[in-house]
Amino acid sequence: MTKTILRALAGETLPTPPIWMMRQAGRYLPEYRATRAQAGDFLKLCYNSDLAAEVTLQPIRRYGFDAAILFADILLLPQAMGADLWFETGEGPRLSTITDMAGVRALKPADAVHDHLAPVYETVRILARELPRETTLIGFAGAPWTVATYMIAGQGSKDQGRAHALKAQDRATFQALIDAITAATVEYLSMQVQAGAEVIKLFDSWAGSLKGQDFNDFAVKPAATIIAALKSRHPGLPIIAFPREAGEGYVGFAKATGADCVALDNSVSPEWAAENVQSTGCVQGNLAPEHMVTGGEALIRETRRVVQAFSKGPHIFNLGHGITPDANPDNVQLMIDTVRAG
Ligand code: CP3
Repeated sequence: MTKTILRALAGETLPTPPIWMMRQAGRYLPEYRATRAQAGDFLKLCYNSDLAAEVTLQPIRRYGFDAAILFADILLLPQAMGADLWFETGEGPRLSTITDMAGVRALKPADAVHDHLAPVYETVRILARELPRETTLIGFAGAPWTVATYMIAGQGSKDQGRAHALKAQDRATFQALIDAITAATVEYLSMQVQAGAEVIKLFDSWAGSLKGQDFNDFAVKPAATIIAALKSRHPGLPIIAFPREAGEGYVGFAKATGADCVALDNSVSPEWAAENVQSTGCVQGNLAPEHMVTGGEALIRETRRVVQAFSKGPHIFNLGHGITPDANPDNVQLMIDTVRAG
């Protein structure tokens, strides 16, 4: 029997949607915090294949999710391309910055990222061996725009201002950076698939700040390039795209990029998305992550609402963004029970 996630991605409407959760291996779980402490810090955890596989498996053991997502981070690829990367405790990621063409030219070529990323591929191989037979293994990377925003600013920001400024002031450098990330992403994801990833997800967390033609040039186009390259190397590979906060940009995104499924944040209503996005293919996501903190009747009501709204087409149940560290693990179980009770 084909795995439920793969059936939904192939366009099948299932009586109960398969479930997984963004950041399902994370700080809300005591067993994650223990393994992270054992590793030393977050990056050491990402590059320790045995421990990264262990934290990937923890939420599968605890909840029986239908998919496991490789434990890694979208910023490992820029690090493999030559950027310095570290995490400031309590603040988030920091990277060396790219400000001009010399900076882009100093990056490693696309096919030179594999040595650095070898432990990630090993994590995938361990997972492909150890996951339960019914669980789908998802590999991932950041989309070029989102990765570029971190490489340009050296950290996260609310408005991605420095990336927008480089795009406006030095288009050639900006485009060269997008192209370099796009090429490296194809190599990285292709190797994840060779190692055993069954589905690929592209995270474009900051797609929502690209407006008009920019959305087409820097969210749609790089995704289309990556997806076409992956599908030509790995025929039939299902791909999920997550242009977070794209709003109206969700409409037609799957067709324009070749993605098999579009992941939805929680700024759009599930009824609107069922009509305008799911009408052309599989959708995933949409439940507000806050419900994993607050629980109760509102969690049950909104979970049922998402299931109901998407019940007439292919659907993978998920949150609209990653689960937060202050979430209560019992609320995750309540969400799963609510989805599976129908
Ligand atoms: O979903 C998963 O469980 C798979 C693993 C995964 C992580 N990050 C682990 C992680 C994935 C798919 C990501 C993607 C990622 N990383 C994105 C895109 C998705 C999104 O959330 O918008 C982005 C923008 C990053 C960059 C990043 N990594 C930031 C901004 C932070 C700090 C924020 C925070 O929560 O502290 C991280 C750290 C990070 N990546 C953690 C995890 C579990 C927390 C690290 C820890 O244990 O301290």
